[in-house]
Amino acid sequence: MPGSDGSFAVAHPNIALVKYWGKRDEDLVLPCADSLSMTLDVFPTTTQVRLADCLAHDVVIVDGAVDRGETARRVTGFLDLVRERAGRTERAMVVTRNTVPVGAGLASSASAFAALALAAASTYGLSVEPVELSRLARHGSGSAARSVFGGFVIWHAGGPDHPDPDLASYAEPLVNARLDLALVAVLLDTGPKPVSSREAMRRTVKTSPLFPGWLAAARGDLTAMREALTRGDIATVGEIAERNALGMHQTMESAVPPVHYRTPASYRVLEEVRRMRACGAQAWATMDAGPNVKVLCAGDNAERVARELRQLSGCVAVVARSGPGATLDRAVR
Ligand code: PMV
Repeated sequence: MPGSDGSFAVAHPNIALVKYWGKRDEDLVLPCADSLSMTLDVFPTTTQVRLADCLAHDVVIVDGAVDRGETARRVTGFLDLVRERAGRTERAMVVTRNTVPVGAGLASSASAFAALALAAASTYGLSVEPVELSRLARHGSGSAARSVFGGFVIWHAGGPDHPDPDLASYAEPLVNARLDLALVAVLLDTGPKPVSSREAMRRTVKTSPLFPGWLAAARGDLTAMREALTRGDIATVGEIAERNALGMHQTMESAVPPVHYRTPASYRVLEEVRRMRACGAQAWATMDAGPNVKVLCAGDNAERVARELRQLSGCVAVVARSGPGATLDRAVR
């Protein structure tokens, strides 16, 4: 049971090796296809949810400042869902701290909603198993379903024919993956993105002529990625991850109007990764809904790759490895 301080939860971002891009149901946050990610050991989000019955509405404090905008609306919408399921009505005080820049394509919404789901479920007395928690977190932000678990994680889209599509779409750990994969996050621009991933996905699904082709390719990528992770075949993992990410960006760039997250600085890093490979290095790039580039490589090679990328770009490059799933943290105060 949570104490008077409510519950504290910690969750880490995840980076998809096979991306989630496009919803088939916006209300239930059901994706068009399965996706697969690695949860990181850096940039955690810590969230406290405390009941505040005296309040007329929820209060949301993000990184020390009260939010009255879109973030607060999304948090309240999510808490309404938790309250409905728990049969409770009390308002809450939500205090959240990120260690990653928000809205820059660094998966902050994944760690944020995974932490919020766990802290809110605990505070409102919802007893949820991890798979159920991933379904719940999905309603806050699709990719948050995957941050509930550590290591390599698959998020099942769930078949459209399932009698309860909400039940059919959840994340779970990929049990037989065996690969010491690291990721170097090159921080080029940590300002908020020009278009939210929600809007960009909507636009892509509705208007991009490339979307059906990308979706078919992503389904093939997922099967091949699972096999490569099971074999511990880093070259195939890297090749699939890079082409999958580039395909996702081409798809959104062909939407009407187009969505451009890649900047000249992103292209320079992508080019440098190709150059490193041409010189024999094992390094592959991936990108999300923002200009920052993440470079995949073997764990024992990560510091060298990071050094080289820092020299090239003059940018901060953070080495991330496989990290844990969301946990309740009773020690944080
Ligand atoms: O969870 P959202 O709505 O922020 O979408 C995230 C989408 C990508 O990060 C671009 C891809 C992914 O699978 O994480």
